[in-house]
Amino acid sequence: MAKPTLNFVCQSCGAAFSKWSGRCDGCGEWNTIQEEKPLSEGPAKQALVGRGRAVALTDLNSQEAPPPRTASALGELDRVLGGGLVPASAVLVGGDPGIGKSTLLLQAAAAFANAGLKVIYVSGEEASAQVRLRARRLGLGEAQVKLAAETNLRDILTTLDQERPDLAIVDSIQTMWSDNVGSAPGSVSQVRAAAHELTSFAKKRGSAVIMVGHVTKDGQIAGPRVVEHMVDTVLYFEGERGHQFRILRSVKNRFGPADEIGVFEMTGGGLAQVHNPSALFLSERGQPAPGSVVFSGIEGTRPVLVELQALVAPSPHSQPRRSVVGWDGSRLAMILAVLESRCGIPFAGLDVYLNVAGGMKISEPAADLAVAAALLSAREDTALPAETVVFGEISLSGALRPVGQTENRLKEAQKLGFSTAILPKGGKAAGSKAMKLTRMGDLSAFVGEIFGA
Ligand code: TYD
Ligand code: MG
Repeated sequence: MAKPTLNFVCQSCGAAFSKWSGRCDGCGEWNTIQEEKPLSEGPAKQALVGRGRAVALTDLNSQEAPPPRTASALGELDRVLGGGLVPASAVLVGGDPGIGKSTLLLQAAAAFANAGLKVIYVSGEEASAQVRLRARRLGLGEAQVKLAAETNLRDILTTLDQERPDLAIVDSIQTMWSDNVGSAPGSVSQVRAAAHELTSFAKKRGSAVIMVGHVTKDGQIAGPRVVEHMVDTVLYFEGERGHQFRILRSVKNRFGPADEIGVFEMTGGGLAQVHNPSALFLSERGQPAPGSVVFSGIEGTRPVLVELQALVAPSPHSQPRRSVVGWDGSRLAMILAVLESRCGIPFAGLDVYLNVAGGMKISEPAADLAVAAALLSAREDTALPAETVVFGEISLSGALRPVGQTENRLKEAQKLGFSTAILPKGGKAAGSKAMKLTRMGDLSAFVGEIFGA
């Protein structure tokens, strides 16, 4: 039987079907399936002797080791990349529209050009003149960066082949289109083809390629997840609108730790690096107030102090509200349940709001105790003692579990002038004698000690 020549692809998850339907079986979304022509297959190639030959690991001598990473003046970006840009690597930078991706990458282009790399910036969204204008506004008008405004993948690859840059920045993959693919730019097949071609270019020619990808409203890079699997490194540029902080986070990195963050501040002259994020995140904090608790967290390899804010108020609704910004909603439900069943503190009939200040997002379970402290402090309308940091994981039994890197968390808190820490029993904390440590075994003990309940 002849193979079907047309494919129906879900524009949300990338699942392919042989016929159209209204709802995708893969992800359950409605009206996301579109007809797309498959990639043209081309004439079958003869296998070449020697291609795909296996080499013993021990035979790889040092001459074949890849050239070293390049560090730039943008230390926060280098940190997220794992200590600089790796040659021949493919990097995807995702983020909401308008969050500052083009600004960041133009600054990165200039920084790597100043570090001696040959950089080409390909914009599919703006004309070269507009990019030049933006560069001038950022004070980068003199940077040795080549610009190209192009969306045809074949033209871009030809240009890159001629120019042989050390770094090519492509903004964005959603605007690129390949004439091998029959569907519109931005569709799953086009995005996949563009990411594939650019990644192969990076591997074949030894150039690093940084691609920009827009993010859909549910926070994924538009196009299928397969794009994330193709590249070596996936970074997300995130932040709340209305806040000046921007966080670059590595969610995948073949050449460095994942979950590393770089912190930037938006200014009129572009993004400024923030070398001491804790000080920045706490800068908006006023006097100790009910519901406000400072959490000593770890982001990637460094400790970051952030303020958690909770508000608990009688609910006019039959189903009280649970609203979370910057933390996991189901984790909040779990902590409320533990407070209720293990400590006898009910939240029924009360609206609960939890916010991580400064637009930070926290995913560590180590924040459990700080969240519980903020909720209790808001509920009892009692502020925690001043200059106190809190961290620790809460188990369903109400026991407090020690968390990793206790020492680093305490050191950072001490550096920022905190004198007391509330933390679980256990866990090493040798080098922080100057701080008063209040260690608790379970949540009830914590409630009794701090709130006298
Ligand atoms: P832009 O880099 O164009 O965002 P994206 O490429 O993610 O869509 O930035 C959006 C707007 O914000 C743009 O008008 C420039 C402005 N901006 C600043 O003024 N200062 C900054 O530090 C940043 C990052 C952006
Ligand atoms: Mg842009």
